[in-house]
Amino acid sequence: MAVNFLPPIANASQFPQPSVSATPDFHLKDVVLFNRSPYHLENAVFTRNGRGAIGIAGKALKKTADNIILIPAYHCPALVEPFIWLGYQIHFYPVMENLQVDKAMLNSMLDELNPTHVVVVRYFGFNQNVDEMIAMLRGRPVEIIEDCAHSLFRFLHHFDPKMASDIEVSASICSINKILPTVDGGALYLPNKPAGTLQQTSWADELKAFAYLLGIPQALDKFRSRSKAVNSDQTANIGTTKDASPSIKPSIEQEDKALRYFQPVDVESASYRHTHYILGKSQIETIREKRRKNFEYLISKIDNPVVGHPLYTSLDQFDVPYVLPFLLNDDKHFFTLRKNGIQILRWEETAVSECKNSMHYRSHLIQIPCHHQLTKEQMDFVIDTINSIQS
Ligand SMILES: Cc1ncc(COP(=O)(O)O)c(C=O)c1O
Repeated sequence: MAVNFLPPIANASQFPQPSVSATPDFHLKDVVLFNRSPYHLENAVFTRNGRGAIGIAGKALKKTADNIILIPAYHCPALVEPFIWLGYQIHFYPVMENLQVDKAMLNSMLDELNPTHVVVVRYFGFNQNVDEMIAMLRGRPVEIIEDCAHSLFRFLHHFDPKMASDIEVSASICSINKILPTVDGGALYLPNKPAGTLQQTSWADELKAFAYLLGIPQALDKFRSRSKAVNSDQTANIGTTKDASPSIKPSIEQEDKALRYFQPVDVESASYRHTHYILGKSQIETIREKRRKNFEYLISKIDNPVVGHPLYTSLDQFDVPYVLPFLLNDDKHFFTLRKNGIQILRWEETAVSECKNSMHYRSHLIQIPCHHQLTKEQMDFVIDTINSIQS
């Protein structure tokens, strides 16, 4: 089945610099030098990003004959593109309104298409019915690829000696920088296959990235643009920083122009060493609790049926929200919130499919920040902004 991604709807440059960011910033105090991670992280493969981890898993688990994969219809292109690049035959299975998998529908697609691989996604840090789907799929001759891009905490179960045998999948991936304040970072659990050797960055690039994490080039840029404005008496660009992200771009010869997000170089590249270090030295339990509390606080206060409603209102014991998914009645409110400086995200470029929910969620399902560094003032600002919308 040919995959046709829809075009983006909004452009980030239309909006002001956010005052409430989607992901946390790095603070030295978040890293505890004597912290001993309870997880056996030495068994994880640290990749540049989640899509790189998906590409490595897709390559290692590829069959010699046909490779037919089922992927949920609600996704971002970064999840699908590695399989396009690897030549898989892709089919999308629908998701229900609460993003659970329709078991009967998945079963009938399994019978009809005989897939070799199935991807399950733990959207936004919530379980949905993924555990149940994995248990069901284990009775089928398919490779199960678990996408924990938003669910670092569930991903870590694979490396937790107390939980490890609970969830049996062929591979699991996560995206570290969705949860922790790192510049890059994906990670891969691939228990029965070699992942290959990944290319480490040079120490010069490592230092550059670490300086970026500390905000040094951004502060210098700000300072330079301020002095320039003073010298030339121009005020237009004061305070805007150039995106100096050191994420490594593929060289022109390496680039695959048919792909929007994934690039072949992603499957060959290790994460920065300090990303791995930050994961090991972060206080995971504290972060987990803070995110859960923030979610509960936002849920208890956001109340405006004119704007929409949250997709979930409670947490199970393992849920750790990446964001608060919220369904808008009218997608104009996406712009209202972004214009107010709240960095909400949504997946606009979902591939065309027959799944009505996915096609609708592309414009209407927004991701409200609820990361562990949000202050009460920031959360109150989000709440007040949503609650004060009148039409
Ligand atoms: C569900 C899901 N899977 C995989 C990815 C890819 O992760 P990364 O951005 O780290 O490459 C994303 C990224 O947005 C995602 O949302």
